[in-house]
Amino acid sequence: MKLNWAERWVVNNPIRVFQQYIEIKWLLQMMPLKTGAIILEVGCGRGAGARLIHKAFKPSQLHILDLDIKMIQGAKTYLSGSTKDIMTMYVGDSIDLPFKSDALDALFGFGFLHHVPNWRCALSEIARVLKSGGVYYMEELYPSLYQNVITKRILLHPEHDRFTSKDLRTELDAAGLRLINSFELKKMGILGVAVKSDRIR
Ligand SMILES: C[S@@+](CC[C@H](N)C(=O)[O-])C[C@H]1O[C@@H](n2cnc3c(N)ncnc32)[C@H](O)[C@@H]1O
Repeated sequence: MKLNWAERWVVNNPIRVFQQYIEIKWLLQMMPLKTGAIILEVGCGRGAGARLIHKAFKPSQLHILDLDIKMIQGAKTYLSGSTKDIMTMYVGDSIDLPFKSDALDALFGFGFLHHVPNWRCALSEIARVLKSGGVYYMEELYPSLYQNVITKRILLHPEHDRFTSKDLRTELDAAGLRLINSFELKKMGILGVAVKSDRIR
């Protein structure tokens, strides 16, 4: 689901960039990648996260995808130079990613999964496109943060079948994504690292 004006303002904001800077530093410490990895960021917004991922993780290919063409147009303006040189941009949906199976070393998702009505399907897609041992770096929010009496009047999100901490953990596991490290405020959200395990789903 695309963002409304209020959330657009929240994410296209220097405070949000600073928050992502801190989060990406933490994620890098939790699970570094080899230089030259192939990375996809889903729900990339205007590209602020992609610029930080590029600096921190030094991928050889950085793909970014968003449902909203306006976000991708924003990313074309926001990103430049060496970041843009290794980058491919897609308008697309997380439930049907334009990649072959076992194609990616890592996938980043900052605050996008809770916008997806069929978030279980998106998790299966994430598992499909990651190589065995590939890493899913995530930042996600829970409904008590984005659907409480105040935020549900201001923000726009799918209303049904929303995931809590327990639901997310169960579905990560079902998709073959093993959560190996996380920092979590159980009512609010999670910053975590999951690895695609070898076992058959
Ligand atoms: C809360 S914003 C986060 C933007 C950016 N990642 C950040 O952290 O600042 C969520 C983004 O996910 C995108 N999005 C929502 N549903 C999506 C879907 N099904 N597939 C891909 N992107 C989606 C939205 O258009 C939006 O840009």
